[in-house]
Amino acid sequence: MCGIVGYIGYEQAAPLLLSSLEKLEYRGYDSAGVCLNDGENLVVKKAKGQLKVLKELTNDGKTLKGTVGIGHTRWATHGEPSDVNAHPHLSDSERFAVVHNGIIENYIQLKEHLSAKGVAFRSKTDTEVIAQLIEYYYKGNLVDTVIKVLSKLEGSYALGVISKDNPDEIIAVRKESPLIIGLGENENYIASDVTAILAKTRKIYRLENNEIAIIKRDGVKVVDTDKEEIAKEVEIVNWDISAAEKGGYEHFMFKEIMEQPKAIRDTVAPRIKDGRVVLDEIKLTDEQLKGFNKINILACGSAYHVGVVAKYVFEKVLRKPVEVDLASEFRYRDPIIDDKTLTVVISQSGETADTKEAMKEAQRRGSHVISIVNVVGSAIATESDDVIYTWAGPEIAVATTKAYSTQLAVIYLMAIYFGDKLGTISGEDYQMYISELEQLPEKITKILENKENIQYLASQNFNSRDVFFIGRNIDYALSLEGSLKLKEISYIHSEAYAAGELKHGTISLIEQGTLVIALATHEALLGKIISNIEEVQTRGANVIGVACENHPEISNVTQSTIFLPQTCDMLLPSLAVIPLQLFAYYVASLKGCDIDKPRNLAKSVTVE
Ligand code: F6R
Repeated sequence: MCGIVGYIGYEQAAPLLLSSLEKLEYRGYDSAGVCLNDGENLVVKKAKGQLKVLKELTNDGKTLKGTVGIGHTRWATHGEPSDVNAHPHLSDSERFAVVHNGIIENYIQLKEHLSAKGVAFRSKTDTEVIAQLIEYYYKGNLVDTVIKVLSKLEGSYALGVISKDNPDEIIAVRKESPLIIGLGENENYIASDVTAILAKTRKIYRLENNEIAIIKRDGVKVVDTDKEEIAKEVEIVNWDISAAEKGGYEHFMFKEIMEQPKAIRDTVAPRIKDGRVVLDEIKLTDEQLKGFNKINILACGSAYHVGVVAKYVFEKVLRKPVEVDLASEFRYRDPIIDDKTLTVVISQSGETADTKEAMKEAQRRGSHVISIVNVVGSAIATESDDVIYTWAGPEIAVATTKAYSTQLAVIYLMAIYFGDKLGTISGEDYQMYISELEQLPEKITKILENKENIQYLASQNFNSRDVFFIGRNIDYALSLEGSLKLKEISYIHSEAYAAGELKHGTISLIEQGTLVIALATHEALLGKIISNIEEVQTRGANVIGVACENHPEISNVTQSTIFLPQTCDMLLPSLAVIPLQLFAYYVASLKGCDIDKPRNLAKSVTVE
């Protein structure tokens, strides 16, 4: 949530800051701003709206002088999106400027305190108190002042600070919000995420909580809050730069949908050796594994939907009870978990505040946490007990696709691996699951090759007012994701229902022409879902079915059917999700929606 960047070097800073911010817009895009030290003053330019507004205003930054500066793209938390609430924020006498990602929880008390001393505030943000506090405590040394100010702040923050008096320094700090330092030749950067600086350098420092970086043109020093120097290790980022570019596609979301076969292959293949699943990253002993009496899954949004699929998969394969919790609810319900509970935390970004806090709660109660994360070195990845990375590469579109698919793939790997260790999976099933898992990329490619069929269905239905996704068992878990995908990018109201539950109330919403997408892949319950489809048909629904190609009879009860290649039941969500993603994409495209940046959303949700 919110992206921050900074540059210090010998080139004109503003164009560089703006092009770096472009890569961070997925983190928030309701307003943007930059601040440059032009040698005399701190010059701020900010604009409500997406970054393109600011780019137009400054001729891509060319109108702004200065070789040191900071920039920000915002997802509003305190104060509505507006020019004045956009970052950077200046102190009262305009000597200091700050960009911030996170939330200052005690900002009201701090603001009252400073206001009583005569400090005038311009914005409604929590961030402005930081700039004002720096000015209030400044006695000639910016690092000392920032350290003093940190001791006053409660909450989470990644900060970039520059001053009018010192055009040769950026101060950067991190607590609970991600921040990296990009290391160049006679120039250095700060950024919320490596994608922002990949075009300039691959060498980075990852700041840890409460580390303070003093960034100059010719070097970076990292200290703790006692000003003791910390020896940081340089990390070399090996991401392919094209991974963070659209590469000829109109939208990142479409590109990422198309990348799924590769993303799954990259995630699965290195973990299958000589026909066996090998998860070296899991340090649990067999004894520990056998000692768990419950599995607890924590996540938000689409990652939670992966968790719901995982419940069906783990219970079937591992024969252990599984609870799936929305991370935002988990901490506040006094959950019954202890060291006999294995917790699995799922997060693409590894920074989602609710998920991270829920994970810590589980750890406090003695539970061993395995995380499934896409962003290397992110907070959840580093703070969990074991991490299994999804190798999806950077996911830029706000609506997740390839991260969801690779998270599912990891769930399958875990089920097979643990099932073998627990002795709950037969040798025959073990081989069959591995073989089917290895074939997923090809089968997904086959579905993607038929994307025009889905585009046609989207063209017939993009004017729908309400859409219902129904399914049973693992198909119900998938319907949650289908529904979220559609509503978040096309703004069409949609709901996901366990097909058998519809008649307990919601079926009253079905009327002539209501679109129902019926997921009918789960073979054991085919007869039941066919009855449910007939129930809505009779009441006027227009039904699109999603079924396996060996069950053509589904067409008898649907207006149209999307057929999938066959695989085992457990893996079907990996195939069935593809047409649902494509359907949402094409509908949103036909409606002219801003697909990669849907309204009100941000990709990395670092506030609770
Ligand atoms: C929806 C979507 C979100 C995320 C959720 C969790 O398309 O992307 O629902 O799944 O915000 O984010 P992560 O996985 O980063 O914890």
